[in-house]
Amino acid sequence: MTTTTDPRPLDDAFFADPDALYRVLRTEAPVSRVVTTMGLTVWLVTRYADARPALNDARLAKSGSGFATVLEKQGIENRARFADSLVGHMLNTDPPDHTRLRKLVSRAFTVRAIAAMRPRITALAEELADAMTGDEADLLDAFAFPLPMTVISELLGVPPEHREDFRGWSNTLLSAGEPETRTAAAGAMAQFLSQLVADKAAHPGDDMLSAIVRAAEDGDSLSHTEVISMAFLLLVAGHETTVNLIANGMRALLQHPDQAALLRADPALVPNAVEEFLRYDGPVNLATLRFSTQDVEIGGTTVPAGEVVLVSLIGANRDPERYERPTELDVTRDARGHLAFGYGIHHCLGAPLARLEGEIAFRTLLSRFPAMTLAADPRSLTWRESTLIHGVTSMPVRLR
Ligand code: HEM
Repeated sequence: MTTTTDPRPLDDAFFADPDALYRVLRTEAPVSRVVTTMGLTVWLVTRYADARPALNDARLAKSGSGFATVLEKQGIENRARFADSLVGHMLNTDPPDHTRLRKLVSRAFTVRAIAAMRPRITALAEELADAMTGDEADLLDAFAFPLPMTVISELLGVPPEHREDFRGWSNTLLSAGEPETRTAAAGAMAQFLSQLVADKAAHPGDDMLSAIVRAAEDGDSLSHTEVISMAFLLLVAGHETTVNLIANGMRALLQHPDQAALLRADPALVPNAVEEFLRYDGPVNLATLRFSTQDVEIGGTTVPAGEVVLVSLIGANRDPERYERPTELDVTRDARGHLAFGYGIHHCLGAPLARLEGEIAFRTLLSRFPAMTLAADPRSLTWRESTLIHGVTSMPVRLR
C-alpha cells in the first residue's frame, strides 16, 4: 500500500507537543508523508515496531549524494547548507567509513572509560549549584547547558572562552530559521573548528582532539576534513542533547511532584528515572535523515527508492503497543528498550556519558534545590523549532 493523501505539514504545535500528532499517525497512518519546515517531503515512521528495525536497516542509508539528490528531485534549493568540512562524520556515513570513524573514538566512550569522569562531573555540578544563589534562575543557562558543554569541552580540549559562541552556532544550525543565518553559523563554526584543529596540531595536549589529530597524522586513517567533522559531531552531539535530557527531565519532575518525592526518598532510583525521562520526553524527536536506496516496505507501506525517511523516537517511545500508560511519567517503570539513543550501528556513542551526566545532574538538583518550582506556566514556554532537538529555549525556575 502506498499512501496517496497530501502530506501534512509539521507546524509550531508539533514542536511543543509532537506526540499529539504521533498519537493520530500511529493508528491512522503509521508510515506517512509529512512536510518539514524547510519544505522537504519525508516519510515519517511513528510506531515502535517499525521504528526500531528502520533505524538499523542498511537499505536506509546515511551517506552519498542522497540528500542532494532528494532536494533536487523535490525542487528545493539547498539554501541552508552546512559547510563541507562539517558533514564528513560517522552519523552521515555508512560502513565501511562509519566503522572506521566510530572505531577511532569508541574506546574513549565505553561505560568503563566514562565512569572515571564521575568525580569531575560531580564537582562541576556542585559548582554550578553553588553559583545558583538567587531566588530564580534559567535552568538552561545556569545548569543544563554549562554542565554537558563543560564536560565535552574538557574531554575534547576546547578552551572555555569559546563555549558560548559555540552554543549560539549550534542552536542556529539545529533549528529551522533563516537560511542566511544558518549558513553564517555553519561558516563560523567551521572556521572555529579548523583553527582549533590547527592549534592542536601545533600544540598537542592530553585531550581527545589532540589524539584524533595525531591519528590523522600517523596514517591515512582519516582526512583533515574528517577530523573537523568529528570534532563538530562530538561537540554538538555531546551537549545539545544532554542539555535537554536535564531540562526536559526536570520539567517533568516539577510537574509531577509525587515522582520527585519518590526520587528524594530513594536516590538509588535516579538511574532508572533517567531511562524514564529519556522515554517520556527524550531530547531527540526525529532521528537524523535516512535515504531509501531501494523500495523499502515499512509496516505495510512501501517507501519508494530515493526518498527521505525520518524515524520518530518520541513517537516510538510513546507507543502504547510497547509501553503501558505511555503518557504517564513513572520513574519506577522499566523503560529499557526505549529508542531515545537510537538503535543499530548509529546507536548513540555518547550514551554512557549522557546517562552519567543525567544521573549526577538530577541527584544534584534534587538534593540542592528541594523547593524548586517552575516559574512559568508550562504552556507559555517556547520550544526549539527543530525536528531533531525537542526542548525549550529557556526554563525559568524558582529555586527556593
Ligand atoms: C548518535 C541521542 C548524548 C555522541 C545519537 C543518536 C541518537 C542520540 C538518537 C542516533 C541518531 C540517528 O541514528 O539518527 C542522544 C541523546 C543524548 C546523547 C538523547 C543525551 C541524552 C550524546 C553525548 C555524546 C553523543 C553526550 C558525546 C559525544 C553521539 C555520536 C553519535 C550519536 C558520536 C553518532 C553515532 C554513530 O553514528 O555511530 N545520539 N545522544 N551523544 N551520539 Fe548521542
